[in-house]
Order: sequence, then C-alpha cells, then structure tokens
Amino acid sequence: MAMSDDLKAIEEQVKEGLAKVSDPKELDSLRVKTLGRKGSLTALMHMMGQVPADQRPAMGKLANTVRANVEAAIMERGTELAKQAMAKRMNAEAADITLPGRRLSPGTQHLISQIREEIEDVFAGLGYTVEDGPFIEDVYHNFTALNAPENHPSRSASDTFYVVDNAPEGKGDLGLSASDLLLRTQTSGVQVHVMEKQQPPIYMICPGTVFRPDTADANHLPQFTQVEGLVVDEGITFGDLKGTLDYFTREIFGKDRATRYRPHFFPFTEPSCEVDVSCGVCGGKGCRFCKGTGWLEILGCGMVDPNVFQYVGIDPEKYTGFAFGIGVERVAALRYDLPDLRALMTGDMRFLRQF
Ligand code: DAH
Repeated sequence: MAMSDDLKAIEEQVKEGLAKVSDPKELDSLRVKTLGRKGSLTALMHMMGQVPADQRPAMGKLANTVRANVEAAIMERGTELAKQAMAKRMNAEAADITLPGRRLSPGTQHLISQIREEIEDVFAGLGYTVEDGPFIEDVYHNFTALNAPENHPSRSASDTFYVVDNAPEGKGDLGLSASDLLLRTQTSGVQVHVMEKQQPPIYMICPGTVFRPDTADANHLPQFTQVEGLVVDEGITFGDLKGTLDYFTREIFGKDRATRYRPHFFPFTEPSCEVDVSCGVCGGKGCRFCKGTGWLEILGCGMVDPNVFQYVGIDPEKYTGFAFGIGVERVAALRYDLPDLRALMTGDMRFLRQF
C-alpha cells in the first residue's frame, strides 16, 4: 500500500507547506512542486500504471481525491494571502480621515476700510453723496484753487511727492510740467472737482488715500486715509458745521466721549478749527497716549473761504458752506486706543484679526 501512503504524505506535506508560505510567489512554487509537470503528485499519478489492476480503481479514486484536496487547499490559501495583502495595503495607504482639513480662512475687512465705510454710512444717512477723486492731482486742485498761497510750506518739494511726467522739457503725455503733478496731500482737492462740475446745493463726502513725505512714527504715516466733507447751500452757518460734526463724533465714538473745537488755520476755510476727541485711555485726565493733554485730534474743518468759491465759479454772496477733513487712521486709533498707527500698515494678522 505504498502508493496510498505516498499520496497521503503528499497531501500532508502540502498542508504543512501551505501553512508556511507567506506570499503568492512561495505559494506558486509550492503548487508547481506538487501539481506541475514534474511535481510530486503528477509523478505519482504517472506511476498509476504500475499499480495492480484490481487496486487501480480504488487507487485512482484516492489520487483524484488527493489532487482535488490539494488544488482546493492551494486555492484557498491563495485567496487568504490576497486578502492579507489587501488588508496590509489598505492599512499602509490609509488616509487618516480624522485629521482636520486644510481650512480656507476667510479674510476680514481691514480696520481702516471698516471705519471708512462706517463714516460713509453716517453721512449717507444725512443725505450726502460719496464722491471719488484722483490720487495723482495737479497743483491747481491740490493747492491753488484751495486758496493756498504760492509760498505755502506744504507746496514745497520736501512736503509733497511731486510726480515727474517723463518729459525732459517738462511737458509730457499729460501736457503738464513735472512740477504740476503730485500725489495728493489731502482729499480737499475733490472739493474743487465737485464744485467745478456741480452747482449748490452740495452735500458730499470723499474718502480716499493721501500721501505725505513723513517718516512713519506712532502718530504719522506717509500714506493714510482721509474723509473729506463739503456742504454748500444757501444760509449754511457755523452752527450747521458744529451740529453735523457733533452728530458724527457721537455716532462714531459714542456719547461718553467729549469733543472740543480748537481755532486753527487752513487756507481754504475761514474761520477754521481742529476737532479733538477726549482720550479714551485716560478719560481726559492726560496720559502718554494723548501726550498729557487729555485730547486727540481727529479732523480739521471750517467755513468755506469765499476765495475758493471764486475759483470754481460759485457766488459767495448767495452761498455759504462748510468743509471738513477726517483722519481715518486717527479715528481708528482713538476708538481702539491704538498706541501706534504703524500697526495698521504691518499686515500682522494677529493684530488685524482683532477688529
Ligand atoms: N485738508 C486738511 C488736512 O489735510 C484737512 C481739512 C481741514 C480738510 C479743514 C477740510 C477742512 O475740508 O475744511 O490737514
């Protein structure tokens, strides 16, 4: 009965071998060694002819059973190995869905834009229009028509950024001599533009960027934001100016901050004042923030000088008006007690996101 023993031995060997194989390649070589053309089981089957005829059917049956068992076992092990390989791969290549995603952080409006829009809302509520004007201005609109005398210090090259119009002889594409063009130092020139194209009644503001050759420090920036205001109508008085600006300061700073009107000089208004708001850090007692005065300046204002009306062709006998220019960065500093205006320009999100 040597052959049946051999068959069973092969089945055993295959079972042992299957337990040891750990990848499809090893499995395949075990299959070839057993069932291949020169495999152990194949060799045994070939010897079937030597089995005595009476035992042959039984032996043939056993051989077929062993062969079927071996094939089934190899197949099963193959499926098992494939499953294991897949599980291993899934593990290795798994995406950790518990990691937080990369968020798109929504931007916030810059504090200066927020306050600028708030100021626009206050005056739009009073029926003012919101105008726009050029950043590059000519000397006539920035100074001359605003009644600034030829020898006014703010006209000097050290106080103003002049723009060179790219022309050696002084007449470039814009037809203006180099010294005629400048980065506007104030939004007041927009008053002139508006009055040139519109007769009273005028109730307008113009927010915008202005430029000065100042070195940045805690209270100054070489580029900052103003909101210009202009009212021209019949019978406008200083009382209208004060009532309007008091309303504005209360809307922006609240009722507990005091204001004061301090006489000042501007070429285009007469009389003129500067308006201060009480310091929020010390409550008006005087501290480092307000340089000991208890007050911080936020705007200039005054009654429109009749000379300005003459420049733009508005009858000063019929109309009067007032004008004002608000420093938006100063308003921001005052409202949030910012010790240094430069923080507004740094782009430091830790600072800017607070507002
Ligand atoms: N333009 C002035 C400045 O830049 C601010 C100003 C003062 C504007 C008085 C006005 C005004 O309209 O009436 O300092």
